[in-house]
Amino acid sequence: MPFIIAIDGPAASGKGTIARALADHYGFHHLDTGLLYRATGAKGGDPIEAARNLTPDDLQRSDLRSADAGQAASRIAAIPEVRAALVDFQHRFAAQDPGAILDGRDIGTVICPDAPVKLYVVASNEVRAQRRADELGADPAEMLAQLHERDRRDRERDTAPLRPADDALIIDTSNISIDEAIAAAIAIVERAR
Ligand code: C5P
Repeated sequence: MPFIIAIDGPAASGKGTIARALADHYGFHHLDTGLLYRATGAKGGDPIEAARNLTPDDLQRSDLRSADAGQAASRIAAIPEVRAALVDFQHRFAAQDPGAILDGRDIGTVICPDAPVKLYVVASNEVRAQRRADELGADPAEMLAQLHERDRRDRERDTAPLRPADDALIIDTSNISIDEAIAAAIAIVERAR
């Protein structure tokens, strides 16, 4: 049985950094599931058809990390048929030996509810906005407004809203270094293995 680590949390919480570090540390496969939604939104046309016909090439587009792609992703991510079309791919990814790490919004609650490790990564709004601003070379106030909008959409949608699974462990990265966050995540995984 492959070992699955589910990591959820809002945008710019640090979940991607933790996921990549854990994948490195354990030699597990890593899927940033946000890319699936970003690529679906970026493909244009009918989002349900776009999700059903997503190809590996679609995930390679260079414009997927932009703030606009994030906003478009969170709009189409509220459509139940879009989410349903992306489930199989995520399940197949999670079934890979020796283990897989998926990060997103609904991994612990919907995609991999039986994962032995579920992390929910959070950070204060100000810290998240500053991180995004540094990453994209943008204005922190503008980033804060965008994060608010995206969080609200992700939390309030009916299908697979952003929330911690009941058995998720919370890591707050607001006031700790990246290395400390990674060490905390490894300590949690070690207890579960
Ligand atoms: O994580 P990232 O910022 O790339 O995600 C972009 C958007 O995709 C999120 O705001 C969310 O609406 C959607 N998403 C989702 N479920 C996931 C991953 C991302 O709904 N598992």
